[in-house]
Amino acid sequence: MTERIVLAYSGGLDTSVAIGWIGEATGAEVIAVAVDVGQGGESLETIRQRALGCGAVEAYVADASDEFANEYCVPTLKANALYQGHYPLVSAISRPVIVKHLVKAAREFGATTVAHGCTGKGNDQVRFEVGIQTLGPDLKCIAPVRDLALTRDKAIAFAEEKGLPIETTKKNPYSIDQNVWGRAVETGYLEDIWNAPTKDIYDYTATPEFPPAPDEVTISFEAGVPVAIDGVKVTPLQAIKELNRRAGAQGVGRIDVVEDRLVGIKSREIYEAPGAMALITAHKHLEDITIEREQARFKATVGQRWAELVYDGQWFSPLKRSLDAFIEDTQRYVSGDIRMVLHGGQAIVNGRRSETSLYDFDLATYDTGDTFDQSMARGFIELWGMSAKVASGRDIRVAGK
Ligand code: ARG
Repeated sequence: MTERIVLAYSGGLDTSVAIGWIGEATGAEVIAVAVDVGQGGESLETIRQRALGCGAVEAYVADASDEFANEYCVPTLKANALYQGHYPLVSAISRPVIVKHLVKAAREFGATTVAHGCTGKGNDQVRFEVGIQTLGPDLKCIAPVRDLALTRDKAIAFAEEKGLPIETTKKNPYSIDQNVWGRAVETGYLEDIWNAPTKDIYDYTATPEFPPAPDEVTISFEAGVPVAIDGVKVTPLQAIKELNRRAGAQGVGRIDVVEDRLVGIKSREIYEAPGAMALITAHKHLEDITIEREQARFKATVGQRWAELVYDGQWFSPLKRSLDAFIEDTQRYVSGDIRMVLHGGQAIVNGRRSETSLYDFDLATYDTGDTFDQSMARGFIELWGMSAKVASGRDIRVAGK
């Protein structure tokens, strides 16, 4: 029987050419796999037809947008995950869900190999292949750009020669990856890290310099999950989309960073994640009133480690699973409402309420009704400083010798 390969298919030039390219190089039949993670643009049916038109023997398409929102974006939100303090893991969290569908398609169509369109310099090749190794250890991996010398120029020549149903003229100098959690833009003019991004780079956000009137929004959470916006019930996918629209209109969530790739390269990336950044801000502020201090401090470091693991392609790893369990436990009381104003590139919280809040007005107030016994503070401070005081005494003694 002819060998079969499932290919992660975006519908763009490179993966369209990859169908025939892989076929010629390996003699295998190619099954195109397109997964909707809320990237917008063309319909799955259009993409399916193009894959078949480019020589795929089968096309597997899946609308995974709710799955992506519920099982990938929501955990990222619960972790308040920002890689290197900035990047909400837009591309990093989409790879594992695509991997799931690639493995599913491989089983359905009896494929032995999984192919993807990544280069040999990025993180995404790692995320795909580590994911495949974990979920389908018997499957092999191949990357035509990296392993079969499929360059951009060769791709254009191949598409023209074979008359593939794909445009080869539309020249976009940037490499773009997008889904409902956000959008990532790199290469071209941006590789000079002194160059400011030009306006044409942005798509999810309007320029924050000339914002429309301020937009006040109330986001309700239940156990860390967004469940309503301005009192209207929403699914996580709807919450992200609605905030992409409203926060995006105010230019919220533009990020310009040089980040550390797993492969050891520093690279410049522009992100836009209006919904993600508005949600993370709101969620964090709700945690501030509902999570106990020590748990909150520890969770911040867990969230950072979680972000690194996910960035580094370890979504399906045991440590990630253990950290998920910890994070999930912290979310038990993260329920309530956050009111925030979206304006001029910022999402600023100005009100919070929760039935499971730890904020105690009677303890916090300086007005009458204060229930805090201030006389307790003296002794507490004496003991709290004791250890450092003893050490300091020793230092003075030693220095004086
Ligand atoms: N640097 C980001 C990451 O590794 C995004 C990569 C997405 N690719 C792109 N063409 N911008 O997660």
